[in-house]
Amino acid sequence: MSHASWLIRIPDVFAPFAPQILAGLGATPRKMLGGDYHLVELADPAVLSESERALFTSWNLPVEHGWPCCPQKMDGFVEKAAQGILKKFGDRGAQALFTGPLLPGAPHPFYKHLATNLRGRVLQLFPSLPVAEVEAQDPSAPTLFCLVGKEGLFCGMRSPREANGFYPGGTKFIRQAAAISRAGAKIAEALHYLKLHQPDLPAGAHWLELGASPGGMTAELLDRGFRVTAVDKAALDPRLDRAPGLTFIRGDVDTFNFKSDGEFDALLCDMNGDPRVSLRQVVRLSAGLKAGGLIVFTLKAAGADTPEDMLALIRAAEAYAVASGLTLIAKTHLTYNRQEFTLFFERAPGH
Ligand SMILES: C[S@@+](CC[C@H](N)C(=O)[O-])C[C@H]1O[C@@H](n2cnc3c(N)ncnc32)[C@H](O)[C@@H]1O
Repeated sequence: MSHASWLIRIPDVFAPFAPQILAGLGATPRKMLGGDYHLVELADPAVLSESERALFTSWNLPVEHGWPCCPQKMDGFVEKAAQGILKKFGDRGAQALFTGPLLPGAPHPFYKHLATNLRGRVLQLFPSLPVAEVEAQDPSAPTLFCLVGKEGLFCGMRSPREANGFYPGGTKFIRQAAAISRAGAKIAEALHYLKLHQPDLPAGAHWLELGASPGGMTAELLDRGFRVTAVDKAALDPRLDRAPGLTFIRGDVDTFNFKSDGEFDALLCDMNGDPRVSLRQVVRLSAGLKAGGLIVFTLKAAGADTPEDMLALIRAAEAYAVASGLTLIAKTHLTYNRQEFTLFFERAPGH
């Protein structure tokens, strides 16, 4: 099925390149909504899964039901909107309904509350929807997503995997108040994102973490019941002293060696510096992973100034990793990434 009208979200960090990104996707911009959503006409929606430029978009939705209006000034918006949604989607077999504000994290909570009230009312009207929890969605089954903001209501059906996220708009908010570092949010989000593509690792799985200091990511992994061998030239935060399940090796990753093949279930790398240098270490140490073992690699693109430069870096990294026996599972720009991308690989059996 092709849809002419789409909502495409382009993260803040790529906003200066939005016209170029949309043009590369063959999208004709119609309107900006809520800060980082672009309402566009899309000649060929397949670009969202096939074009490498889709990497600069974090979430997408076909707009099958759009109601441009000013909800704040309208009496009975929730009831009218809910009836409209029922009429359009009531018999479409959605697995779930999730609603959200067009301006996520907006200081004014009006649209967040409106989205919650709208969901409540639609759920009363709808034939029962099988899934109530965000992470319980089948990544490949269609969900009804609705976004609401001062520009009106925008709804469509899309599987979470195709949309590139389980939440409306894609963002899972991660509390960072007591975090050791802001990097913790990146692995928390990465593990949530990975559910779009494969089941969770079992508790007790053993991670090798490269570039762990000060330890925000380490703390997140330990919190989930994983074991972690963390390597860094710099010290970890004292809050991680004697943390159960943690082995810390202070030193250079270049000289670190694992003890036996298959020692680790997963490898995480958030080392700073040239991503090509970091990836060489990831590939070398991936021999310490079990076959099918997971790799989460933050590709830092700080030196790349344009989308073309960033794509060239990612292309080269991917080609090198694949030639070295890794299989790409997914690549994305997470909400908590800055000018960096998260690439997920697995160690191919037999390598
Ligand atoms: C962005 S920080 C990592 C933040 C960390 N993931 C967290 O959750 O707090 C990058 C880290 O990589 C480490 N690093 C970079 N190159 C390294 C190398 N060759 N050997 C060991 N550590 C390295 C740096 O010391 C630095 O602590």
